[in-house]
Amino acid sequence: MTSKYNIMGLTNFITGILLLAIFGAISCQTKTNEGKSAGTMGDIVKDIHSFSQPNEAVVRHMNLDLYVDFAQKQIRGTAELEFVAKPNAEKLILDTKNLKIESITYANGDKAAYKLLEEDPIFGSALEVKLNGSINKIIIKYATGHGAEALQWLGATQTADKTDPFLFTQSQAILARSWIPLQDSPGVRFTYTAKVTVPKGFLVLMSAENPQQASEDGIYHFKMEQPIPSYLMALAVGRIDFAPIGVRTGVYAELSMLGRAKSEFSEMEDMLRIAEKLYGEYRWGRYDLIVLPPSFPFGGMENPRITFATPTILAGDKSLTSLVAHELAHSWSGNLVTNATWSDFWLNEGFTVYFETRIMEALKGKDYADMLSALSQQGLEEEVANFMDSGQESDTKLKLDLTGRNPDDGVTSIAYDKGYFFLKYLEEYVGREKFDVFLKKYFEELAFTSNNTERFLIYLNENLFKKNGLKPMADLNDWVYGTGLPESMPKVHSARFEEIDSALLQWKEGNIAFSTEAWSSHEWVHFIKNLPYEMDQKSMTQLDAQFDFTHSGNAEILGVWYVHCARHLYQSSFEAMEQFLVTTGRRKFLTPIYGELITTAKGKDLALSIYKNARPNYHFVAISSLDKLLY
Ligand code: BES
Ligand code: ZN
Repeated sequence: MTSKYNIMGLTNFITGILLLAIFGAISCQTKTNEGKSAGTMGDIVKDIHSFSQPNEAVVRHMNLDLYVDFAQKQIRGTAELEFVAKPNAEKLILDTKNLKIESITYANGDKAAYKLLEEDPIFGSALEVKLNGSINKIIIKYATGHGAEALQWLGATQTADKTDPFLFTQSQAILARSWIPLQDSPGVRFTYTAKVTVPKGFLVLMSAENPQQASEDGIYHFKMEQPIPSYLMALAVGRIDFAPIGVRTGVYAELSMLGRAKSEFSEMEDMLRIAEKLYGEYRWGRYDLIVLPPSFPFGGMENPRITFATPTILAGDKSLTSLVAHELAHSWSGNLVTNATWSDFWLNEGFTVYFETRIMEALKGKDYADMLSALSQQGLEEEVANFMDSGQESDTKLKLDLTGRNPDDGVTSIAYDKGYFFLKYLEEYVGREKFDVFLKKYFEELAFTSNNTERFLIYLNENLFKKNGLKPMADLNDWVYGTGLPESMPKVHSARFEEIDSALLQWKEGNIAFSTEAWSSHEWVHFIKNLPYEMDQKSMTQLDAQFDFTHSGNAEILGVWYVHCARHLYQSSFEAMEQFLVTTGRRKFLTPIYGELITTAKGKDLALSIYKNARPNYHFVAISSLDKLLY
């Protein structure tokens, strides 16, 4: 594939050397950005999901002093914001959603004039603070509103240990504004400190340097010295304990989960070393993970220094740890180099799925990584077909048009899996060695900055194609700006899944005597997903009699099996399925099951009655998707 262009080798070699020198210089500059600021004023890409105007006045540092009130389900305190403004700038604009602003003062103690603008149901209210000469710090006294969307307040019964309440936040994509007044845009980075006061005995964790045991007085101090975007602001408060894994890694969980968590995630230190070897030094100090209560709406969230994770990955056999690889990978793709706007979300997630797969390949071998790719490919093909069928063709573009929409609409397998296959295609086109050199350099040179699709393509052209004397692929723009799946989509061959496919054939022919001993949960998921779309009660019963999917301890298996159960109104599963739906808040599992249930009248009744019961257990992000689906 590459040899065709080798005649151009010499000139490109020279250009390459020149570029190397130029980017070497830039790299030195960006490195000094850490801990201060990233980028200069005036170069922040316009973000339609934030009211802020960071090219006029931009927040660079924040000091929080917060009190967590479990009885009122409210966070109260102050946010001290340090900013840099253009000389003629008149105001600092912040994002808020449902925040009660009590007062705003300048650093000199004077009261600041401010306006809280009318609330938009998705984006909240702009908070405009009048600037005062050269004063570059304001102090906002505020409290969170009822139902603050980032916060989930859990009663003791919703936790594992059932002794005390629990609080966690989920800020991505634009929910940080519901618990902190800030410039809620991924193009804006700031450092922060925080003092957080909670009832005695509770442990507090943030996306910052974290304690490993509860303090005597319920007061905690945090520091995040690397500049981060707002969606990575995170807080968790509960009866939480810590167990170390390696020198830089460890897990937090409620006591009754801690042992399981420690053994499930025993590969974390290895993953960290593998990741560093691939794409450069880990820049965040420690890497820990907290296992949250089951209502956490995602599988994982890459909060810097501390991944937030669902307990549904505690399978007992380390079979679902690619999720840890994924969140760890975000420490580079996402947290170090961040999508500048939510329309560039694939830069976060597509890169991360690629990186995740590379980590898993190094950890468990190519066979294993091929299964992940195959699952990704099947998921992607289904998603694209769904979009095409429902007239949402333009949502299959990598670069998304989210004008007037909630960025949550962009959380589909397009960003993840089409993004992943685009990078895999690039890798195959230039060869893995060159691609790895490129990626490592990308993370190093653009560390602590935000990037958009257009800038990425320029960078790609300079540093991957020109530098290696290659022409860009002819369909590069199709991949990024086109709909559907390009012809050049890499085809995945998974040897381990081919065996499953032959087992499926046997099963369809009535032969159930194939051996399943060596199957991991990925093989099972592939098997279940590829069972015939239509099955009679007899087949369902037979499958369950043989494999007891209905009571599997593996949430991924339950997630795909219950879709069949919902489609065929398979009664014997209802009790367990309801139990799963009521206790698990992970949206990825909930939407397909509810979505399948509502396709029949009887199923819809069931869905609505379960949902009524389950809804109070879910986080806002799951509720907002499911309300749309069910009501
Ligand atoms: N950053 C995402 C989760 C997210 C995306 C939250 C957009 C809010 C808005 C996280 O890294 C993620 O992708 N989680 C996946 C895990 C995975 C292995 C693909 C999940 O939660 O399922
Ligand atoms: Zn992710």
